[in-house]
Amino acid sequence: MLDPWEWGDYLAGMTHELSFTHRFEPGISTAAPLLLLHGTGGDENDLLSLGKTLAPDRSLLSPRGRVLENGMPRFFRRLAEGIFDEQDVIKRAHELADFIVEAGENYKLSKPVAVGFSNGANIAAALLLMRPEVLSGAILLRAMVHLAKPPQADLEEKPVLIISGTSDPIIPASNAALLAAMLRKAHANVQHETLPTGHSLTQNDVTLASKWLNR
Ligand code: MLT
Repeated sequence: MLDPWEWGDYLAGMTHELSFTHRFEPGISTAAPLLLLHGTGGDENDLLSLGKTLAPDRSLLSPRGRVLENGMPRFFRRLAEGIFDEQDVIKRAHELADFIVEAGENYKLSKPVAVGFSNGANIAAALLLMRPEVLSGAILLRAMVHLAKPPQADLEEKPVLIISGTSDPIIPASNAALLAAMLRKAHANVQHETLPTGHSLTQNDVTLASKWLNR
């Protein structure tokens, strides 16, 4: 048992080691930890409060994307808004999957549920289609199609919640629907919800995601 004074060092020690800069917050629940994946310009601190709201007792693992776009962290390169460097998507999805395995062994974690926003949701969708074995499910907040021709995957009924916005200026409704269809074709158990909102997250996202996670 750690002396309370040692907690700071313990947590700080867990922050920057391993292959991705990350935060790890241990939880008391044995339920699947949450893998928090931030949007463009975010970092490993961004989604911690969302994670704590969604699942106060679960462990939280939050890596920082390794790609920089004008100084803004992302999980893979893009050529323009909504136009992705697909070779980089593939490479970065494998790197992130390897980190999930590495962190799982280091912190003794079960397979996490990814909670990704925007660019983080897109890399989570790439993980589902390329390395489904590293996740137990995913919440994709404002996700879009990231690969024109995804590999054939079998998600074996893994649960996936997609939440889109009807007036999202970055993601047309048809694109989000195509992603849902892609994941269903790969045998994911997809629930796709559309809220009357834009790209930013709202309280309704939190309510829906929390209900789905604790269902
Ligand atoms: C992306 O991956 O580029 C997102 O869909 C949009 C963004 O992160 O700004």
